[in-house]
Amino acid sequence: MMPKLPFTKSEYEQRQESLLNSISKNDIVIITTNDVMIRSNDVNYSFRANSYMLYLCGWEEENSILLMENNGSNWIKTLYVNPTNTEKEIWEGRRQGVEGARKFWPVDNAKSIHSLFQDLVVVKSKNKKIHINQKPKYFVDLIVENLESRDSFDNFLSNVNDVNILIDKLRVIKSNAEIKHMRASCAIASSAIIQAMKKSYSGMGEWELQAIIEQFYKMNKSQSSYIPIIGGGDNSTILHYKKNNSVIEEGSLVLVDAGCEINGYASDITRTWPINGTFTKEQKEIYKIVLKAQKAAIESCQVGFDWNKMHESSVLHISEGLLELGIIDTDLGDIIGENFDGRYRDFFMHGTGHLLGLDVHDVGGGRKGDDNPGPSLQPGMIVTVEPGLYFSKWRSDVSIPDKYAGIGIRIEDDILITENGPEIITKSCPKEIEDIEVLIRNK
Ligand code: GLY
Ligand code: MN
Ligand code: MN
Repeated sequence: MMPKLPFTKSEYEQRQESLLNSISKNDIVIITTNDVMIRSNDVNYSFRANSYMLYLCGWEEENSILLMENNGSNWIKTLYVNPTNTEKEIWEGRRQGVEGARKFWPVDNAKSIHSLFQDLVVVKSKNKKIHINQKPKYFVDLIVENLESRDSFDNFLSNVNDVNILIDKLRVIKSNAEIKHMRASCAIASSAIIQAMKKSYSGMGEWELQAIIEQFYKMNKSQSSYIPIIGGGDNSTILHYKKNNSVIEEGSLVLVDAGCEINGYASDITRTWPINGTFTKEQKEIYKIVLKAQKAAIESCQVGFDWNKMHESSVLHISEGLLELGIIDTDLGDIIGENFDGRYRDFFMHGTGHLLGLDVHDVGGGRKGDDNPGPSLQPGMIVTVEPGLYFSKWRSDVSIPDKYAGIGIRIEDDILITENGPEIITKSCPKEIEDIEVLIRNK
């Protein structure tokens, strides 16, 4: 049966050509996929193909390589794949094999992965430079099993260069077809979180909210793009909490950071709500600061604006809010500081956002302090905006007023940069205090 790829053949070919335009005809490009990872004994984690492989040709099977080489006049793109093998397929599932790859995928040729080594020996003999995205274990093994020792691998593959930065430049700007998949992913994740809000009750388990959200993904032929963060009470203050095994007590907030994947494209949403449907005075005070900061940061997502502008905007509002509540007590100049390392960092200790795409923390970004300073915003970029404030009960390194201890709040939306300003593609997920309260109370 003809497989359905997420993009047209010509879109894949366009991406390949855009990359190859910046590669010398004397060089070759190798795109590897990911390793299969063991979970326990002979049970593996479910396999997820490498995002560069998905981007350039949509190939999802393991143990495969895309090789692109110029024959003097044309670039020839070859997929090296697991050949069909009845005995293996009885256990592991059907393979496209060499025939399927050649017939249906946007490449010129396909070969068995078992012929890769011999072809690389030929490449090596021509002294070609190899541009590669990564060297996973399966790829190293494919070569080492033909060499005398592991030591000779680096020698065999000595003339290599990182190709990622060239592909990242392409991946940062999403095509209309990619945006369509991202919108679908955001719509499912928004609805899943609305379901979770509606089914909230005091004393429920964090795991129950996870189940509601992941069931919704599965019912929509989707899956989590990362382990959902479901933190009730003080757990809401752990940035990447993922145990999800505590009861959410009456009067607590719950912070839910969850996203799904459609054709490899991730969504990434955070909402924080009172498990009983009514914010306390103190919870409201902190929530309003974060919401104001988030809205200001979204407004800074304008074409041509520096990537750091949105962080500056959220830091300003977070700092002002903390100052007003008397949680920090220095003047704003000191708080914001040259390198954004003011006192607010005790309670807002992460960046305001990241690029989003085939990877949740997508390629091409950068924050102040990173080697890569990051781009100015351009139409077709998709970023998250996700300021937060976290007051952990257990921290002894900072002074936290008792009334705020145990409050962790993050609000995260996914934003498409357009010529007409930022478009919030997760806007169907409520974030205003009144809307959240009505939704939970009127379930
Ligand atoms: N879900 C991780 C993050 O928001 O960056
Ligand atoms: Mn998130
Ligand atoms: Mn995020």
